[in-house]
Amino acid sequence: MHLKNDTKILVDVATEARNFSQAAFSGFRVGAAIETEDGKIFSGCNVESSSYGLTICAERVALTKALSEGYTRFTAIAVVGPINDYCPPCGACRQLLHDYAPELKIVLSNGKEIREHSLKELLPFAFEKTNLRKK
Ligand code: THU
Repeated sequence: MHLKNDTKILVDVATEARNFSQAAFSGFRVGAAIETEDGKIFSGCNVESSSYGLTICAERVALTKALSEGYTRFTAIAVVGPINDYCPPCGACRQLLHDYAPELKIVLSNGKEIREHSLKELLPFAFEKTNLRKK
């Protein structure tokens, strides 16, 4: 599905969201921005905890913000990590994004260039709800 906003706008919103990153423990600041089918954009940043395992990635913050406001269909998510490098979504984020938006486009920026992937490409042979059906 095509993006409603320009890719650059999605990257800009993710970059802005990175300013709010709560990364006191890793110092690794991440911002994300997910676009809904009707063009609304929800941003997110990583939120870390002193109990490290409770940390939430920027992508999951953006996704859950949107879901919790009733938005369930998505076109793309942009992710921006620390300057000069791409930040590909972690495995947990790939799974959750796939559960809600298997057709999602993943837009990564290193601050200079943008690269795009499909979520299907990043998470092939994914576990999904059809696997839960009883035979
Ligand atoms: N992080 C994200 O927010 N998104 C990713 O795709 C990779 C990792 C965060 C989690 C943690 O706060 C920090 O980056 C280091 O792992």
